[in-house]
Amino acid sequence: MSEVQHGLEGVIAFETHIAEPDKEGSALRYRGVDIDDLVGRVPFERVWGLLVDGSFDPGLPADEPFPIPVHTGDVRVDVQSSVAMLAPLWGFQPLLDTTDDEARAQLARATAMALSFVAQSARGTGLPMVPESQVDEASSVVERFMTRWRGEPDPRHVKAVDAYFTSAAEHGMNASTFTGRVVASTGADAAASLSAAIGAMSGPLHGGAPSRVLAMVEEIERSGDAVGYVKGILDRGERLMGFGHRVYRAEDPRARTLRRVAKEVGAPRYEVAEAFEKAALAELAERKPDRVLATNVEFWAAIILDFAEVPASMFTSMFTCARTAGWSAHILEQKKTGRLVRPSAIYTGPGGRSPDTIEGWN
Ligand code: ACO
Repeated sequence: MSEVQHGLEGVIAFETHIAEPDKEGSALRYRGVDIDDLVGRVPFERVWGLLVDGSFDPGLPADEPFPIPVHTGDVRVDVQSSVAMLAPLWGFQPLLDTTDDEARAQLARATAMALSFVAQSARGTGLPMVPESQVDEASSVVERFMTRWRGEPDPRHVKAVDAYFTSAAEHGMNASTFTGRVVASTGADAAASLSAAIGAMSGPLHGGAPSRVLAMVEEIERSGDAVGYVKGILDRGERLMGFGHRVYRAEDPRARTLRRVAKEVGAPRYEVAEAFEKAALAELAERKPDRVLATNVEFWAAIILDFAEVPASMFTSMFTCARTAGWSAHILEQKKTGRLVRPSAIYTGPGGRSPDTIEGWN
């Protein structure tokens, strides 16, 4: 292949057994299982196991408290740095020198740490830490997470966060997963691979911003006029947040699943969101008849996270917690291939020349 594939679009770099986004059929399957059969039915820790091991057992172990060594005010940055520290702190050897079982155990422990870290950071330093004995009473990983954060979480919030974690756990090849696999392919340790993936997710073009959806929902709530609001946005040539997708040419299956959960848990903004969605889909279909512009995951994720009282500043860290499952599965899958990722580039710079032709020589 001698042509540049900008942004690697259309380039197939790996074979994977982990997940399959069905772009035309509006489905997302984790190792063959439709996410709609998992969300609300199988707890996140078992979904983590399904993605990483292809089995619900043993799943993700319970988390453990981890001292918060850095406070930058940005939880995503702090969790990335803390994960990177694990190799020297916990003695992780490079993936090249570990067995598959050791690598799997390290990924599980690092994930469990990341979850406890995010929960503790979300609680903030102003409140006393929730005693471990209280956290240990929780019956699932997400309940532990929410207990560590809130002390006594609302069970409906636990259900909402669990649903969000599972629906955002994996999505095939994307920038952060690719990054994790590239680092793993060098034989680097599991913590370096995971923290690199966290960094890649932080960009607004990837980590997304359900908060932008929420701002629109709040506007409609104030005006009470979904149709007028939608027309106004589109007349100004702006985009409706939470609609359209680079990959899906049908409804994003995660939106469908999270819409169901939002209704089940009684999210207070369900009705306004539904009115917004109805108005947006009608208007987009009329104005862009040649293009399928349907609801994407960010739309209903915003409603679910808002219901669970997750502040917008925590959205990227919540996404990080969820996606540890997909990243861990891909890092392990890549390790097993034993193959270094090493693409090529076409050189388009100047031809051979003497250094004295360059400004600043002498
Ligand atoms: N609102 C209004 N018009 C839209 C929207 C939207 N949300 N999305 C696409 N369009 C229009 C574009 O204006 C464009 O129209 P034109 O051909 O007349 O110029 C046409 O549809 C195609 O747009 P592209 O940007 O080429 O579509 P692409 O597939 O590349 O974009 C994207 C996908 C970036 C998600 C886009 O739909 C968008 O900006 N959506 C809003 C932001 C959003 O919800 N992001 C979260 C995505 S989900 C995720 O990342 C996990």
